[in-house]
Amino acid sequence: MRYNKKALRIKIDYNNMMESVLGDKGISDTTFYSMAQDAQAAFEAVEAGKGKNMMGWTDLPYNQDAIVEDILATAHDIRKKYEYFVVLGIGGSALGPIAAFQACNHLHYNDLPKRKRKGPKFYVEDNVDPERMAALLDVIDINKTMFNVITKSGSTSETMTQYLIINNMLKQALGDKAKDQIIATTSVATGNLIKIAKAEGYKTFYIPDGVGGRFSELCPVGLLAAAVTGIDIKGLLAGARYMDELCNTPSLKKNPALILATLQVIAMNEGKNIGVMMPYADGLKYIADWYCQLWAESLGKNVELDGTPCNKGQTPVKSLGVTDQHSQVQLYTAGPFDKVITFIGVENYRTEVKIPNGCEEFPNVNFLCGHTMNELIQAERKATEYAITKAGKQNYTIMLPVLNEFTLGQLMYMFMLQTAYAGAMMNIDTFNQPGVEEGKNATYALLGRPGYDEKRAELANAPQKQTKYLC
Ligand code: PA5
Repeated sequence: MRYNKKALRIKIDYNNMMESVLGDKGISDTTFYSMAQDAQAAFEAVEAGKGKNMMGWTDLPYNQDAIVEDILATAHDIRKKYEYFVVLGIGGSALGPIAAFQACNHLHYNDLPKRKRKGPKFYVEDNVDPERMAALLDVIDINKTMFNVITKSGSTSETMTQYLIINNMLKQALGDKAKDQIIATTSVATGNLIKIAKAEGYKTFYIPDGVGGRFSELCPVGLLAAAVTGIDIKGLLAGARYMDELCNTPSLKKNPALILATLQVIAMNEGKNIGVMMPYADGLKYIADWYCQLWAESLGKNVELDGTPCNKGQTPVKSLGVTDQHSQVQLYTAGPFDKVITFIGVENYRTEVKIPNGCEEFPNVNFLCGHTMNELIQAERKATEYAITKAGKQNYTIMLPVLNEFTLGQLMYMFMLQTAYAGAMMNIDTFNQPGVEEGKNATYALLGRPGYDEKRAELANAPQKQTKYLC
């Protein structure tokens, strides 16, 4: 599909971060532009790093053509043969697929009759809660299911556990044909899954070496799941390319990702340790989850690039407009000055719902009649933005002309660049996740994985829990 770039460009409005609106609670132009050199350095570092080491994700908008054709052919085949498509993965191997599915498909996709769905029913298993696995098995027919096991490391306990369970069931049900119902998406060279995939003969897609989990939506991790449910993956990639084009300048007046990174870094330096992500669209609900991982794992670090100890990061919080106006906005408005709120608005929702007449005798209800839900959600977004701004709380708004593949590609890529710029300004390694690895390694040790004796001993020597603190 062709997309009109000009009409579909996403826009940012950061008035409500600034002194001109917030007075002494806002950022002055002097403070903002005093960051120009840091921003320029961050921009140059990201430019210089593109395509290298763990920045392979910057190539994805440009180098996926051949893989996209394979993905589209595979997806076509899956749509013809299967009733269910299940992703087994966690973290960066799950959150992107979930976010894109929610953003670009019908909000009750799985409940639609088959003829109204563009593909099989879609599930992502990103936990090892036994009740959830049992529940999945209650609603799918494994004989009619394609499973996509996604793990870059090929050793993540959660994903490999799910794989073991499913593979065992498939083998019992289908014998040698079990292999036809598993697709492995993993690293080409490292980890166990690639070895298993070769031994079993699975169809395989590769996660490029320089693409970390949370930056992997635009490679087969995200693209296969998206294509299976009918999402225009070429549109997603085109949107990302367009955002890359828009960000191709160190100007703090023009580069949207650099502007947002700079604002957040200033805010963090001023003690705003919480970043709320509040989209006003159910379709973007899980973009907030995806963003939370991106921002948290990338920027939460205890060491700078030169080894200097630090404790950096900003805690991301997911929130949904208007739902969370009725649970969290009291805190955002009246609570401490410790947050930046990111609103995401959508100018044109994909449908319009009119609010009918029917309450003429009750003026306090009747004022709603004759409007649309579209007008209501826009009014509530603006009203919440107003209330939060009036309370002196920093916030900015990202506006999508409409939610579709092209604008989603722009949005996700802008957040990835924003994260990379912010990490460069914070002088940390944006692309590692030693804190996650620590937990993974402790799990391996607890469950007896070979090679983890030292970690097991470390755990045994950790401070013991005292009964006086148990109640
Ligand atoms: O962003 C990351 O690298 C992590 O969150 C991983 O995606 C997550 O831990 C899953 O790892 P893997 O894909 O190796 O199973």
